[in-house]
Amino acid sequence: MTAAAAGAKLRAAAARVVHAVRIEGSSLDAALAKADAGTPLTERPLLHHLCYESLRFHWQIREHIAALLSKPLARRDAIVEDLLAVGLAQLEQSRIKPHAAVTLTVEATRLLKKPKLAGLVNAVLRRSQRESFTAESDEARFNHPAWMLDQLKQDWPEHWEQIAAANNERAPMWLRVNVKKTDAQSYCRLLAAEDDTGAATADLLPGADAAVRLAAPRPVERLPGFATGEVSVQDAAAQLAAPWLLAAGGMRILDACAAPGGKTAHLSELALPGATITAIDNDADRLALVQETLTRTGGCASVLHADASAPGDWWDGQPFDRILLDAPCSASGVIRRHPDIRLLRRASDLPALAARQHALLEALWPLLAPGGKLLYVTCSVFAAENDAIVGDFLAAQADADEECLLPNNNIRDLMLKKPVGGQVLPGIRGMDGFYYACLTKSP
Ligand SMILES: C[S@@+](CC[C@H](N)C(=O)[O-])C[C@H]1O[C@@H](n2cnc3c(N)ncnc32)[C@H](O)[C@@H]1O
Repeated sequence: MTAAAAGAKLRAAAARVVHAVRIEGSSLDAALAKADAGTPLTERPLLHHLCYESLRFHWQIREHIAALLSKPLARRDAIVEDLLAVGLAQLEQSRIKPHAAVTLTVEATRLLKKPKLAGLVNAVLRRSQRESFTAESDEARFNHPAWMLDQLKQDWPEHWEQIAAANNERAPMWLRVNVKKTDAQSYCRLLAAEDDTGAATADLLPGADAAVRLAAPRPVERLPGFATGEVSVQDAAAQLAAPWLLAAGGMRILDACAAPGGKTAHLSELALPGATITAIDNDADRLALVQETLTRTGGCASVLHADASAPGDWWDGQPFDRILLDAPCSASGVIRRHPDIRLLRRASDLPALAARQHALLEALWPLLAPGGKLLYVTCSVFAAENDAIVGDFLAAQADADEECLLPNNNIRDLMLKKPVGGQVLPGIRGMDGFYYACLTKSP
């Protein structure tokens, strides 16, 4: 296949991925996995880049397309609109030469079996190069669906613009070093020694002792020590959970929503002699990843396929000293990593998620030993999934108290105090958006 044919095929594949997310409601990960199967390894980074950028700037791009078209495309030609989105994303966000971007995108129109629209694609993309465009609607200016902007404005009247802007950024790659095997400073030195450009390869975050932020992302196969479990990929905000539990040797620890296992592995990497970790999840496929991660990192936990909200089915009656409830949520704090979340979530998802979160908290509380701690965590920025859940729970539960915020000053200063618990907003020191509330049970 010639380079031009391969380039056109890649644009057509990107359009299909965007279409699957926008029209069929597929997740970006699932659509990309399908597209990867037909894409040579070396071309996958560009495929991913085009899909991510098309979806990251979805609302801006769609308004731009509407301004460039003299009349909307017919429904049956929706895939061409997705191809145009891929074309515009290339022209606006990437370093591909404009001439090549246009030619290959026009050629992709034929591969998508819409040859009659090739002329239109050509005209629209060329016009976009001649005419400047300024987004007008709030949706396009901030690149979010209207309901999400409204929710952000309601929950974060002083920070919503900051959150929206952070959601449009690309997230850095964070690593967690396995402190049983190395430490963050040594790992940074190892990375620097490997790189002969003299540029900074990584930096640290005071207070998140195992966290290393890479200056540029790279595939895990190119991370020294990844295969042998010296290092794992995990955002710095997610790394706050395991140490926050202040677990000690000999304790019984429950990781109630464990998959894919980032926090389970982190717990297992803390020096806790004689502690036992039970990791459960109700998704068997995702649970397999927990075991994989533990095997790679040399960690140890009892991994159980179970429903955390029905402990009668699996609990042996022995109380846990620590419970981590990393609850299923809207993932509105990790939009930088999953730009499809903005297209896939609906306002109506929030009450349903809140009901699940509340049920999990209620079901797990009786499993906590007197004097024990339960850390409630979400990667959401919405109050309905965070302080509202924990606040209602505390009001109804006589033996539950909120413990003061994180015992680490460096990180505490980066968090925003909520009526209950604390929030790391997305983008703060490069971190994802996470909510934390630590509850203690009266002795
Ligand atoms: C935010 S993710 C957990 C991420 C994980 N703690 C980590 O650090 O890698 C939430 C998980 O909760 C699981 N889940 C949702 N409802 C559950 C339930 N009733 N019981 C157990 N797991 C559940 C989902 O399958 C999902 O894997």
